[in-house]
Amino acid sequence: MRQLTRRNGTGFATICLISMMALNFYVNVWVHKDDSDFVLELRPDHTSHKKSRFLWKLAETDDEKSALNTTMKNTLESPLGVLSGPQATYKKIPTSPTFEEVSNVWPSLVNYQDDRILKQLEFIPESVKNNKKYNRDIKTKTILLFNGFRDWGVKPGRETFLEQKCPVNNCELVSNIKRAPEVDAVLFRQNVRFPIYPRPRDQIWMMYFLESPYYTPSLKQFNGHINWTATYRHDSDIVAPYEKFVKYNTSVLHARPHTMKNYAAGKTKKVAWFVSNCKASNSRLEYAKELSKHIDVDIFGRCGDKKCTRGKEECSRMIHKEYKFYLAFENSNCRDYVTEKFFYNGLQHDVIPIVMGAAPEDYRRVAPHYSFIHVDEHISAKELAQYLLELDADDDLYNAYFKWKGTGEFINTFFWCRVCAMLHDTSRAPQSYHDIEEWWRGRDVCIGHDRWGQHIRREPFISDYYRKQTKTLI
Ligand SMILES: *[C@@H]1O[C@H](CO)[C@@H](O)[C@H](O)[C@H]1NC(C)=O
Ligand SMILES: *[C@@H]1O[C@H](CO)[C@@H](O)[C@H](O)[C@H]1NC(C)=O
Ligand SMILES: *[C@@H]1O[C@H](CO)[C@@H](O)[C@H](O)[C@H]1NC(C)=O
Repeated sequence: MRQLTRRNGTGFATICLISMMALNFYVNVWVHKDDSDFVLELRPDHTSHKKSRFLWKLAETDDEKSALNTTMKNTLESPLGVLSGPQATYKKIPTSPTFEEVSNVWPSLVNYQDDRILKQLEFIPESVKNNKKYNRDIKTKTILLFNGFRDWGVKPGRETFLEQKCPVNNCELVSNIKRAPEVDAVLFRQNVRFPIYPRPRDQIWMMYFLESPYYTPSLKQFNGHINWTATYRHDSDIVAPYEKFVKYNTSVLHARPHTMKNYAAGKTKKVAWFVSNCKASNSRLEYAKELSKHIDVDIFGRCGDKKCTRGKEECSRMIHKEYKFYLAFENSNCRDYVTEKFFYNGLQHDVIPIVMGAAPEDYRRVAPHYSFIHVDEHISAKELAQYLLELDADDDLYNAYFKWKGTGEFINTFFWCRVCAMLHDTSRAPQSYHDIEEWWRGRDVCIGHDRWGQHIRREPFISDYYRKQTKTLI
């Protein structure tokens, strides 16, 4: 396992040329409902985006639709890094009945397919509502960033919550470890040793992960001590995905035909891949080499023979102008592990992403409708190549994978707003992960270089865990 950029503790496992750029430019789309205004934001800081990335609410008037249309178009088609704009702020989503069930904001057996992000975004705990109603002070919750501010890209104090106009903003961020014994919550990020200090009984410990289990250390010491998880896993207490796509209208899966362009036009090349970690646990390079026996695959970077200067805009433009397919292969075949390689390198570049990483159903849960091809949908690399050649020969078939464009948008999921709201919730019974190591790295979470089809599971993935969890806690 190659451990990259550990120097600053961020630990990005695999950095390919494009993702290098992608990590530096995240786009937050923001729509002001009142005036149909919108802003695009590209943050020169990946950490704040991921943790403060959120959704938006959805055009209703024609003006809004048209604004969004433009936004989408810019977001999807602009060369990297040319747009800039003010900070995204939180805006309330009109309440729909399902959002009112408080229990829906936490993971449970009944909602285990749902990441609950939209519900958490508009969640205001009863205690906060009551205090507001009676004009009582709302206690500020203090959150200690155990690994310091460095990796988060947020500001100390309350600023982050106020700037983002969080519905619940009575929180502050601190990093002085000496305050550990008095804070309301401690957020641990990735590589961390078990802390020793007198922990108050009601202090929440949160564990945050960005990387897959292959690139994160053992958590055994933390068994029984972690209350909440904040990871890309959809069964985390506070889900922190790399991106979240939200449809404008859940029953509209395709853009109107007349809005479609021909995404095959002018493309002369077949499959591209930017990669620099040649030894991933899932043997993705071997798979790509096998694929290349049957269809042209151009591998850029350290593991192949094609060159394109890192960070250059031309590289990313070349992908969508010349290539039909992009290998959005993750470095790990693990549950829910879907990163910017798919969302950014793939979906935002007018190429069809061929994916390897999480299970097909995990991709379906987070991807726009009909937007990718999973390697496991095909028995072999050879058969996949044959399918790709079919798409290559038929523009209509090829374009079917782009009909999702314009049906929704990638939202900012305002991680910090949600953390703050959830910390004020007093309705949830005390929780802790009695075996967080098992939750994070247990059986069938990661499957090495196997394909998901080889792992027939008896039941939905997380129910096992919750059953155990429920037994232990209640
Ligand atoms: C959205 O964009 C497409 C082309 O990009 C255009 O044909 C269509 O009219 C636009 N729709 C609205 C509502 O502006
Ligand atoms: C969603 O789309 C369906 C089908 O086009 C339409 O009937 C429905 O009114 C739309 N819903 C909203 C909220 O726009
Ligand atoms: C947090 O976890 C600790 C250790 O397991 C536990 O004692 C405490 O009750 C939990 N608190 C909450 C609020 O979940």
